Amino acid sequence: MKTNKEPWWKRSVVYQIYPRSFMDSNGDGIGDIQGIISKLDYIQKLGVNVIWLSPVFDSPNDDNGYDIRNYRTILDEFGTMEDLDQLIREAEARDLRIVMDLVVNHTSDEHKWFVESKSSKDSKYRDYYIWREGKDNLPPNNWGSVFSGSAWEKDDATDSYYLHLFSKKQPDLNWENEILRNDIYEMMTYWLDKGIGGFRMDVINFISKVEGLPDGKVGQGQLYGDGSPYFMNGPKIHTYLKEMNERVLQNYDVLTVGEMPGASPKDAQLYTNPANKEVNMVFTFEHMDLDSGPFEKWDAKPLDLVALKHNLEKWQHALHGVGWNSLYWNNHDQPRVVSRFGNDQEYRVTSAKMLAICLHMLQGTPYIYQGEELGMTSVRFDSIEDYKDIETINMYNSKIEQGIPEDTIMRGIYAKGRDNARTPMQWTSDGGFTTGTPWIQMNPNTTEINVEQALNDSSSIFYTYQKLIEMRKQHDIITYGSFHLLFPNDPKLFVYKRQTEKEEWLVISNFSNSTEKLQWTSCEVDGLSGKVIIANYDSLEIDEQGISVRPYEAVVLAFERRL
Ligand code: NOJ
Repeated sequence: MKTNKEPWWKRSVVYQIYPRSFMDSNGDGIGDIQGIISKLDYIQKLGVNVIWLSPVFDSPNDDNGYDIRNYRTILDEFGTMEDLDQLIREAEARDLRIVMDLVVNHTSDEHKWFVESKSSKDSKYRDYYIWREGKDNLPPNNWGSVFSGSAWEKDDATDSYYLHLFSKKQPDLNWENEILRNDIYEMMTYWLDKGIGGFRMDVINFISKVEGLPDGKVGQGQLYGDGSPYFMNGPKIHTYLKEMNERVLQNYDVLTVGEMPGASPKDAQLYTNPANKEVNMVFTFEHMDLDSGPFEKWDAKPLDLVALKHNLEKWQHALHGVGWNSLYWNNHDQPRVVSRFGNDQEYRVTSAKMLAICLHMLQGTPYIYQGEELGMTSVRFDSIEDYKDIETINMYNSKIEQGIPEDTIMRGIYAKGRDNARTPMQWTSDGGFTTGTPWIQMNPNTTEINVEQALNDSSSIFYTYQKLIEMRKQHDIITYGSFHLLFPNDPKLFVYKRQTEKEEWLVISNFSNSTEKLQWTSCEVDGLSGKVIIANYDSLEIDEQGISVRPYEAVVLAFERRL
């Protein structure tokens, strides 16, 4: 149960800002730091106490800031270091802490370390990156990059290849090099000394690669090998994270969350057990991969709710009393959840609220991605020309080359493309994001879905999120209660209980557009005695026997525990 030394981030809710798309203060069509400052009151009104800021550092923007040219300067388009200091101060005045993105698996190829590293085999920075000789004019191994093509790029001047798990403008850093690690720790200290609230660590479980960098298996229909067994959760990952903690993090009371594709609950137990002194929590990907076909994410298939429930149950149980979960449906890399697991047409509002309730009642720290609190939807641009995301564009080009029909490719982009999340924040019915031309088109449905509308409508999705955030501050059971999944094989309803010694909450969510019956006896509660904590319909259809759970309905009922 709650102890006096409760870490502050256990009861926190984090709001993620993707700066390019949040708010533009100077009319250049690109969101910026002053824009964020101008909206802090809005974020405060929602009630969160942490903002995770996607990268604002100097960058050539090959991957929208996840390719950092200088860790200690701010990208001109976003503003200046003074702006950022102001943001930290003004946020603090509203009880908001700023968590920065730590991108240290790779830098930009324009970072001075890489420019030096590339300049000669004798450079003192050569070993900051992963250089290898080719084999008979072919790359050192068969790994594919996450952004299509080979994971190796040849440098003719020194006749060798460097590794880039992402774009060729994102060379991977060589964490074997102690001097590099020290430089990174110094840079982290620089930021923490500014008073930031922690780090979200980009693909941090990729930093340790298996020696020898063996070839990966080539999957059906794939051109390159899958190197992930040799770089995800690699041999020295725990050593590095412990070192980082000891050298830097332990000196500050901050939130750390490692983005960790391919981390299993067992891995996460090791990463997040406080005794191990690594990170507070991780972003798992397992629940985000459940609507992908067997070969890759673009091959979208409908969500299998039973699989989702089993997956979330596995994570809830694995980390209860051991480590800590992060909870998310959305971020800048994922399509909008209401379009993905909900119904973004007739049940948009209801299903967005249901998804919020279902997620926020789990144990862990929830993350809300900008616009999620409005029920912003995914987008369908007519032409590939309208898309900006490097992953999407590279995938499109590579598939066109392979002769895959364009409509098949576009279907994948509509379902899974990252630009679904990156259209500008919808402030007003005519956008309100910029006075200029936005860097990426607005979703046309800003006419109906926008902040102004949401704030003026007391039954909007925004207020459901606000209430969920407030509830977390008041009810220990949300933070500490145990988790029990009911009806694990029901394909439409997601029903679970949270329990403490004193109370029991029943969380019912309908992921379908049909009405489903639920009997109280099979939930082992006396339904009519339950107190409604939150719901997304005005009243419930219940009697002594049970409840009719209407399309996308969600309700949380609280009971005293009969022991
Ligand atoms: C994960 C980030 O979330 C994503 O946006 C980025 O493209 C890759 N890491 C590479 O930094």
